[in-house]
Amino acid sequence: MKTVKDTLCGRRSVRRYEREAISADDMALIYDAIRNTPTSYNGQQFSVIDVTDQQLKERLYEMTGQKQIKTCNHFLAFCGDYNKIRTIARAKGIEMPEFENTVDGLIVATVDATLAMMSAVVAAESVGLGTCCIGYARTADPEGIARELGLPKGVYVVCGLALGIPREEPDLKPKQPLSLLVHSNHYRTDDLTPDLMAYDAEISHYNETRSGTKSTNDWAAHIVGYYTEAMTYDMLRHLALRGFHLQS
Ligand SMILES: Cc1cc2nc3c(=O)[nH]c(=O)nc-3n(C[C@H](O)[C@H](O)[C@H](O)COP(=O)(O)O)c2cc1C
Repeated sequence: MKTVKDTLCGRRSVRRYEREAISADDMALIYDAIRNTPTSYNGQQFSVIDVTDQQLKERLYEMTGQKQIKTCNHFLAFCGDYNKIRTIARAKGIEMPEFENTVDGLIVATVDATLAMMSAVVAAESVGLGTCCIGYARTADPEGIARELGLPKGVYVVCGLALGIPREEPDLKPKQPLSLLVHSNHYRTDDLTPDLMAYDAEISHYNETRSGTKSTNDWAAHIVGYYTEAMTYDMLRHLALRGFHLQS
């Protein structure tokens, strides 16, 4: 097993995998790590759909365009989940407020599912597996994916995670310097622009020189381009179809 430092600081997204299956022991570790995720109120407002059926993976690939979903060994869909607490509250005659219709309710379940995904990432990385988070599992075709995964009302996909034995070792991607990420006691008051410009230049250089597919992307325009694409997603409508009628 890798050290914590190698696991966390040597992690990079891996998008190509060997055909070999992940061992049962490694999957058991990943499931245990998922189970022991810290969650708001210990409410465990999340569930995971572990997709191993190759035909289902292929259909999810067709819906998302994310090849990793069909080539990985396990595809885990991390979902926010109020179906479980609603089910037991109903069974015990406990009147439950419509917490899932509040913004904080959505944040609570989204944070829980995201932390569970990170637990899985860390566990998988620690035993040398390759991982890639897949946000398109949430955004590409929310209704089609919910149907394929048989999600009941009160359950929505937050993010997917592809797991497999790595078939590539991409260069580590440069990240923002600590001066932009960690603020001491209060948020920085000086101009962030010079540090941001330096980081933008560093990423551009990485994109032009990295091993594998190269590009001329800078960081800022690339990220803003994603936001522009994301403006078309209409998550409010998709969430309403999943039983979330967000109000405040
Ligand atoms: C929430 C989330 C969603 C992501 N969605 C995708 C995705 O749909 N497809 C993909 O190829 N990579 C996806 N990624 C991977 C990011 O592109 C990657 O983490 C980022 O470029 C940093 O690179 P690194 O993971 O190698 O450090 C996602 C990562 C996160 C955390």
